[in-house]
Amino acid sequence: TVIKSSLIEPDGGVLVDARVPESERGSKTLEAELLPKVSLAKIDVEWVHVISEGWASPLKGFMRENEYLQSLHFNSLRMENGTVVNMSLPIVLAIDDETKERIGSSKDVGLVGPEGDLLAILRSIEIYKHNKEERITRTWGTAAPGLPYVDEFIIPAGNWLLGGDLEVLKPIKYNDGLDHYRLSPKQLRHEFDRRRADAVFAFQLRNPVHNGHALLMNDTRRRLLEMGYKNPILLLHPLGGFTKADDVPLGVRMEQHCKVLEDGVLDHETTIVAIFPSPMHYAGPTEVQWHAKARVNAGANFYIVGRDPAGMGHPTEKRDLYDPDHGKKVLSMAPGLEKLNILPFRVAAYDTVAKKMAFFDPSRSKEFLFISGTKMRTYARNGENPPDGFMCPGGWEVLVKYYERSVTE
Ligand code: ADX
Repeated sequence: TVIKSSLIEPDGGVLVDARVPESERGSKTLEAELLPKVSLAKIDVEWVHVISEGWASPLKGFMRENEYLQSLHFNSLRMENGTVVNMSLPIVLAIDDETKERIGSSKDVGLVGPEGDLLAILRSIEIYKHNKEERITRTWGTAAPGLPYVDEFIIPAGNWLLGGDLEVLKPIKYNDGLDHYRLSPKQLRHEFDRRRADAVFAFQLRNPVHNGHALLMNDTRRRLLEMGYKNPILLLHPLGGFTKADDVPLGVRMEQHCKVLEDGVLDHETTIVAIFPSPMHYAGPTEVQWHAKARVNAGANFYIVGRDPAGMGHPTEKRDLYDPDHGKKVLSMAPGLEKLNILPFRVAAYDTVAKKMAFFDPSRSKEFLFISGTKMRTYARNGENPPDGFMCPGGWEVLVKYYERSVTE
């Protein structure tokens, strides 16, 4: 018997799956070998992974110009039937002049991974200009030097963008011991159905879980139960693609997250931990829409958002790059995300009187301590403990070990 899924529908109604079935892999690989080749960097492979599993549904490949323009100007895509889906980040593949020359008038190309292996075919391609300044300013709202994704992947990239439909010839694996955490939207949906979830609430993160994060998640669970849901499931969903150099690496974060569950800060029984394969842009309110939209495709109908999601410090000025409240405001109004329940949260900080993480109360602001990533690093480096109740001891220990290692390196 097939259980009818009660989960939220993916964007566009059908989850994109651009992975070629095993039975066709041989013949398609032979075909791909005869096509002009385009070399992919690691970051491009991360996007191939994202597209191929349907996180960006209904997007079927790297954006062609019409999709790129809609994403850049409207943060959304209009489908043939008139429905609007959210798509706030351009998912594009940059190529240089030489590659463009090599492709010539070919309709399809083969995509080759950094190790020289044929990964995918891109069909019915289109090549158009990569106006980097326009892409950067429209996505980030600034062209200030020091934006991690921009400096690393856009400035050095080619002057052309290559769009088309993707056909992935073999599963994308990272062989870092964490592949079993990389569940596709389809696998996640299956798991939510298996557990008979009647609500799925997603938590995007790229930092270690402290008790402030846990407060948001546990408070959400309480609210959902109050609303009458019987079996809400939490998707604890760390981002696994590119992150900036001073963020804690994925492997360490996964170990830390496991401790948080072991220590009982989050409930084992009602939580699924998985890796979201997307790279990080640090584009604040623009990017948080992508973070939320991708989780709809994975079956989440509730989305937690707190202070300054996907934000960072301004690269050249002493301030946040984005207004810390804009992420949740924008998310609550974003085109194409009307069906997603946004759960906005106030900032959590360490309450020095109650000696625990709590929602910040401006009327007694002096009694609160804000513990940033930089401050955490300083504690760990100096062998100091953060105040009691900031993070579970097991989780903190994982970080101390990491920072000790990174000091001696
Ligand atoms: S993010 O880039 O993934 O957004 P981070 O891992 O720091 O960064 O945050 C994960 C989620 O927790 C985001 O929704 C963010 O707004 C929220 N958040 C982080 N720190 C706090 C805090 N101190 N108070 C409230 N919300 C927070």
